[in-house]
Amino acid sequence: MRSRIPFKILGLSLILFLTSCKGRKKEYHNIIDKIKAHSVENSRDGIEEQSLYSLNDLVAIDENDIHFYIKKRKGSIKSYACSECHNKPVEQLQKEGLGKKAHWDIVINHADTKTMKCTSCHNGEDMNNLNSITGDPIDFDHSYKLCGQCHIKQQKDWIGGAHGKNISGWKSARVSKLCVECHNPHQPQIKNRWPSRYNTVMVEERK
Ligand code: HEC
Ligand code: HEC
Ligand code: HEC
Ligand code: HEC
Repeated sequence: MRSRIPFKILGLSLILFLTSCKGRKKEYHNIIDKIKAHSVENSRDGIEEQSLYSLNDLVAIDENDIHFYIKKRKGSIKSYACSECHNKPVEQLQKEGLGKKAHWDIVINHADTKTMKCTSCHNGEDMNNLNSITGDPIDFDHSYKLCGQCHIKQQKDWIGGAHGKNISGWKSARVSKLCVECHNPHQPQIKNRWPSRYNTVMVEERK
């Protein structure tokens, strides 16, 4: 009789053990398990369901084993495609235009004028693409590569997600703003702004 009691206790604890966690659904051993079970992998797979954007509007970026997206850019550039007018050399266009400036609104204020001319970034022979320092074409959708030639540190931070901004939902794969969505390439400095402040005049008027 006596020797059976420990067996009963053992059997009971075995049943308790088996039914404790695994038997029932939606219960977790600890908070880490729960987070893991509920989290969506931050990878390419979730993008369509999780993101505010559709894959058709995005360009996939793979740099240093880091994967994220940017929005397609060309559709947002007013005078794209450039080749609609730039189907002949710029000199010829200038002559035909009788000295009238087509891009009068574009003024360069980026580094000094010896470093930066239109041809530092655009190539008259191939206006539909940007132009690298070595004269290679860079797609307008990948203009970060143009900036990254000189701004290596900012580009590295941007790829890592530290410089710039994520514009997709927090659960989905990252969609980053391109450099040119924040910095005008022709005048890249961010303008100073007055801090917004509480309108004390309105409070006076309400009295
Ligand atoms: C509506 C016609 C038109 C379109 C579209 C157009 N251009 Fe031009 N562009 C001209 C003309 C005309 C000139 C020559 C007169 C001048 O220099 O402003 C010119 C000149 C230029 C020059 C030389 C400016 C200089 O001062 O040496 C650059 C660089 C240029 N265009 C870039 C572009 C790029 C990049 C695009 C596309 C994103 C584009 N253009 C789209 C008409 C156009
Ligand atoms: C530092 C590189 C750089 C220089 C220098 C530069 N551009 Fe650009 N330019 C760009 C980039 C990048 C874009 C595309 C911007 C975007 O995606 O909105 C662009 C866009 C343009 C566009 C299309 C703008 C629009 O909204 O339609 C025109 C036109 C243009 N550039 C002309 C010029 C002319 C003319 C000069 C010289 C006076 C010049 N650029 C100098 C980098 C440069
Ligand atoms: C050929 C080299 C070169 C390229 C390409 C280039 N930059 Fe620059 N950029 C410079 C230099 C040089 C300065 C001036 C640095 C300084 O004053 O310390 C500068 C300054 C800047 C600044 C700081 C402006 C300020 O005064 O606060 C920003 C922002 C910037 N660039 C963004 C860009 C972006 C965006 C692109 C791509 C469209 C780009 N740059 C492409 C060379 C380049
Ligand atoms: C979401 C907007 C945003 C994006 C995207 C962005 N920047 Fe900036 N960037 C800023 C702001 C804001 C500053 C700080 C400006 C200031 O302090 O006056 C800055 C500063 C800079 C400076 C000046 C030096 C510094 O670090 O203060 C450079 C150069 C620069 N950015 C280059 C780039 C390049 C290259 C890219 C793309 C690879 C990029 N930025 C993308 C917003 C942005």
